[in-house]
Amino acid sequence: MQPAKRLGGIEISLIRQINALATSESLNLGIGEPNVEPDETLRAMASRAPGGGSWHYSPNAGNLSLRKKLSERTDFNPKSEVCVTAGTEEGLYAIFQAYVSEGDEVLVPNPGFVSYPTLAKLAGGVPVPYSIEPPNWKLDAKAVLAKITSRTKLIVVNSPSNPLGSTIDRQTLETIASAGPLVVSDEIYSEIWFDAPPASTLGIRDNVIVVNGMSKSHSMTGLRLGWIFARENVMRPVITAHQYIATCASVFSQQLAEMILDVKEWNVSWLERVRAQFREQREAALYSIAHELEAKIPPPAGAFYTFVPVPTCDTEFFARTLATDAAVLVIPGVAFGSAGEGFIRISFAAPVDTIGVGIERVGRWLRAAGR
Ligand SMILES: Cc1ncc(COP(=O)(O)O)c(C=O)c1O
Repeated sequence: MQPAKRLGGIEISLIRQINALATSESLNLGIGEPNVEPDETLRAMASRAPGGGSWHYSPNAGNLSLRKKLSERTDFNPKSEVCVTAGTEEGLYAIFQAYVSEGDEVLVPNPGFVSYPTLAKLAGGVPVPYSIEPPNWKLDAKAVLAKITSRTKLIVVNSPSNPLGSTIDRQTLETIASAGPLVVSDEIYSEIWFDAPPASTLGIRDNVIVVNGMSKSHSMTGLRLGWIFARENVMRPVITAHQYIATCASVFSQQLAEMILDVKEWNVSWLERVRAQFREQREAALYSIAHELEAKIPPPAGAFYTFVPVPTCDTEFFARTLATDAAVLVIPGVAFGSAGEGFIRISFAAPVDTIGVGIERVGRWLRAAGR
């Protein structure tokens, strides 16, 4: 019963492994999904969605009516340049399957989201990390350009970043996009920002593929609804791969997404509410990090993560010990690449009290260990 060679060295992510250590006593600051509860409007739409339309397969790329709504304020052709996916993750998988061949290089952020190097390996490619540097985690285009070789097939960028919370400015995105290879821009946290909306790569050049979805913006992680924007010639192989992975995204989720996009005013106020809640939780996290961990970090510009330096040499061991001995879950930075060693990701997608007590527990453990 040997698993396929392509799975060699690939394990369930450290994020999932740490979360598996949770008990009923645990305070969870390892979480990667919003803690914003659906309001009455969203709940009502969700209960109407399954009854309100077809239960049949949709076109592989998703219902055209949804694609039209998604592309409304863009110059992307809903018939050929938008594909609805079973979450951003499936969209990314389809893109990598469509473009990465044996030995192709995929430039991935380090620290960066856990899936990118794994998706590259699953497609037979070689992940090539580019560094993003502390303390500001501001991406320098030169760090990316320096890694491009004749084998570079994809460059992955992620803004706002999981796990860093930093964003990439438009000039940097343009410089990277004009380097030549296809750019995959993961914008799943685009609606969760604090001072100003992050720059988007949408439409900046024809070699850019943008992925996004409703998991984070609408607390819909379990409903698996994402989408891809790309120019027609770039999109065609992605839709072919997507057909053999998912056939189509759930039609219930597609119907719900359409309903959400239809109620524009509600949607604007929902997103404001989401940002307001995360703003408050971000302040709570920053306060406790400064007071309990004596760490000064730049306030994250988007998403709901802080990436905090800790004076311990093995952060995986540290995070496992915190989970079992201090009943608090945080993610070791090394889960996000070698450059994450020495850091832990503390998510602030949790109630203010949980954030305060959870970070206090981390601080107490560090003090007891004499760090
Ligand atoms: C950077 C990033 N991209 C993609 C995803 C996957 O999102 P989805 O639920 O749309 O598959 C996540 C989820 O944590 C993420 O953090």
